[in-house]
Amino acid sequence: MTITLTRLDPVGVDYDELVSFMTSNRFPFHVRQTVTREDVETAIADGSYRDDDNDSYWIDHDSLGRIGFLRFEDLTDLAPLFDMRLAQSMRGRGLGAQVLEAATSHAFSLAGVDRFEGQTREDNIAMRRVFARCGWVQEAYYREAWPVEGGKPLASVAYSVLRRDWETGTVTPIVWDL
Ligand SMILES: CC(C)(COP(=O)(O)OP(=O)(O)OC[C@H]1O[C@@H](n2cnc3c(N)ncnc32)[C@H](O)[C@@H]1OP(=O)(O)O)[C@@H](O)C(=O)NCCC(=O)NCCS
Repeated sequence: MTITLTRLDPVGVDYDELVSFMTSNRFPFHVRQTVTREDVETAIADGSYRDDDNDSYWIDHDSLGRIGFLRFEDLTDLAPLFDMRLAQSMRGRGLGAQVLEAATSHAFSLAGVDRFEGQTREDNIAMRRVFARCGWVQEAYYREAWPVEGGKPLASVAYSVLRRDWETGTVTPIVWDL
């Protein structure tokens, strides 16, 4: 099984498909679980899908076809983050780790990027398991930092992978105690 990241053009040929993808799927662990066409169109116009800091890709699978969306964020910081969103029908099928591997490979193909970071809500168990499976290290647990629509805030959990760990297949642990 091969995952290909296909760079998308949010203001050109991919505009309609991007709006359709974002509005037709629910994202229960994102700050905004559902978005409207207007929300997506505003975000596209603002450069949230492609500008100096952001770059967006379709996630294509060699036999399943188009399975989701991936955005690299904070690209000018040289320690980018990502936003990974599988289509609802593609979740829970063991695809997440392959997608994260493809995303990591892409991030470290960029000159000067030596850290790749991700954040997720504390109860997004699938994403947290994917991080663990791919050898990412949990670096922070921000209590009550994730706003929840209609509910109390939850924690935001931060992970990263280092280029040198990724290149050597090792995991550098954190020494928390002095
Ligand atoms: C989060 C996401 C990328 C995970 O990818 P996925 O392909 O659905 O995850 P997988 O099927 O590989 O499951 C990963 C693990 O979580 C487990 N898992 C999945 N859903 C679970 C649940 N609701 N409760 C407990 N465990 C769960 C799986 O059993 C698997 O465990 P394993 O590693 O021990 O085998 C995908 O579900 C998704 O895109 N969700 C919506 C958007 C999102 O939340 N993105 C994360 C933003 S950072």
